[in-house]
Amino acid sequence: MEDVVSSHRQILEFQLAAGLDLPLEDVPVDRFAVSAEAIAKAEAARPPPPERRNESRVATAPTAVPAPLAPDAAIMEARRLAASAPDLETLRRLLEDFDGCTLKSTASRLVFADGRPGAPIMIVGEAPGRDEDEIGKPFVGRAGQLLDKMLTSIGLSRDDVYIANTVPWRPPGNRTPTPQEIAILLPFITRQIELSGPKVLLTMGAPATQTLLNQKEGILRLRGRWFEYAMGGRKIPALATLHPAYLLRQPSQKALAWRDLRALRAKLHEA
Ligand code: URA
Repeated sequence: MEDVVSSHRQILEFQLAAGLDLPLEDVPVDRFAVSAEAIAKAEAARPPPPERRNESRVATAPTAVPAPLAPDAAIMEARRLAASAPDLETLRRLLEDFDGCTLKSTASRLVFADGRPGAPIMIVGEAPGRDEDEIGKPFVGRAGQLLDKMLTSIGLSRDDVYIANTVPWRPPGNRTPTPQEIAILLPFITRQIELSGPKVLLTMGAPATQTLLNQKEGILRLRGRWFEYAMGGRKIPALATLHPAYLLRQPSQKALAWRDLRALRAKLHEA
């Protein structure tokens, strides 16, 4: 018995280390007792696949589950909703109710923002990770702790910045959001930037930089460069820098990030 428990633990540890964080089946299957009988039982207990589920729902309830929006329709809907938001709180609520992006269905919750709305600096990262998904705020895990230290190093705190992500739901297994997910959610983050109205924008990592600053090169080429970001009817300076999660893996690159942050502080004094 102890052997079985220890093997189960080893498998779970390996799966966690490999980034697996979602069950693949609704009903667990004991792979150590796999026999024709066990398989038959698990199959019998498994809920019907989505088509069959919908069919049975149609039979018992007159309201059918709406089909998910096609990507183009989802983008149009996102644009319409985002443009209609007069303030950040409304935008947050509209995003919470938006069903056009499948990331929402695997995440635990929406991770909208942290820091101070209207702060002179707005920081945009990539996507929430496991800790952010649990707590509901961006940059609260290890990368967030490093971000706090980076801000402190230039005399700033979270109160001096407003922080959000390119996508507000955690992608499963912390994968990079796909171009389609980013495209669907782009109207929300651009409206969020506009409604917060920063003086300077800081994009951290490749997805935020390439998406918001319309660039194609890699982040190591883009970092440290200033761009113009069109925010509503005006332009504000935007700086690309390295993502703190990357700096945790490559601590020798912190010197580059430090250089970028000093440039940010200098620009803030000019702006
Ligand atoms: N990485 C990000 O890009 N955003 C977070 O909120 C956390 C980690």
